[in-house]
Amino acid sequence: MRIFSGIQPTGRKHLGNYIGAIRQYVAGQRRAQEAGDLAIYSIVDLHATTVSYDPAELRERCLDTTALLLAAGLDPELCILFRQGDVPEHTELTWLLCSVTAHGDLNRMHQFKEKSDSQRELVSAGLFLYPVLQAADVLAYRADEVPVGEDQRQHVELMRDIAERFNARFGDGQQILTVPAHRIPEVGARIMDLQHPERKMSTTGGSDEGTVYVLDEPEAIRKKLSRAVTDSGTEIVRSLEKPGVTNLIDILAASRDVEPAQVEEEMAQARGYGDLKAAVADAVVEMLEPVQARYAELRGDEAALEDVLAAGAERAREIAGPTVADVRAVMGVGPPPAR
Ligand code: TYM
Repeated sequence: MRIFSGIQPTGRKHLGNYIGAIRQYVAGQRRAQEAGDLAIYSIVDLHATTVSYDPAELRERCLDTTALLLAAGLDPELCILFRQGDVPEHTELTWLLCSVTAHGDLNRMHQFKEKSDSQRELVSAGLFLYPVLQAADVLAYRADEVPVGEDQRQHVELMRDIAERFNARFGDGQQILTVPAHRIPEVGARIMDLQHPERKMSTTGGSDEGTVYVLDEPEAIRKKLSRAVTDSGTEIVRSLEKPGVTNLIDILAASRDVEPAQVEEEMAQARGYGDLKAAVADAVVEMLEPVQARYAELRGDEAALEDVLAAGAERAREIAGPTVADVRAVMGVGPPPAR
């Protein structure tokens, strides 16, 4: 069982990224190892170039994200951690996969619609092709499982279609590319903005007061949670009519690693939403404090971070290279493969 996931180096990582994705990465490295396989994680700098960005800042954000992932518990002895732009196989495979990607499917991607609406200067062709690069990321490693939050469901479905179409068109009865499956957590797959609980927590589309960053000071975390928008009434239960309370219950359950029903039961005696917010703040601070401390230790040593990424890229290329060679061979691209 091989695991692959990617994370953008843009902006500051928030509680949604942490609960929905980063924690699954950390759990995945052991699961993959126990199954005799690998977990592979990439900081996707090439994806970050599809919207307007600053080149010097991109490099900084890659190192921030590397330090954050290590601080959260990724261990380069247990997994492969690398920067996407260090492995040229991703871009080559993207082009090759374009031949089996339907233009109409790309047009239907929610994230393309959302992100293209928010671009003021240029809607780049890269933004349109973004999901093909994401498919190449996963398919290059023949990964079985892709841990992601709910917002990536459609992208994973597309990469499944691309792999199936590729095998049908070029495989000659063989499964050249593995068809991956998403792994979306049951609780915490869609953490909502604390101020606008009908919108997902997000660095680009959310509100600053409604977004808890992994590196926020404990005081800031407590303040944001104490001001979280709740709903009318006093009952602490999950329901569609109570998106704010439901979100807080989910955050508390995920932070403590328990079922939401257990939180509802415990909170039945609470005096009101104030108690719930205080409990969530305590749990989130407790979960993030060790990560913040480790991050502070690691972020300063940029040479060490670059070393981790370079070693990861080398191992990544050993896997991605042969996949791309197989893809070229069956597509009839380049010189005939050596016999
Ligand atoms: P990115 O960097 O936006 O987000 C990283 C991960 O965080 C999850 N996430 C959330 N989970 C719960 N609640 C939220 N509010 C929330 N917001 C974000 C995302 O689902 C994601 O898992 N396109 C991807 C990066 C990517 C990738 C890949 C992922 C590139 N190649 C290959 C998987 C496989 C992205 O922009 O994630």
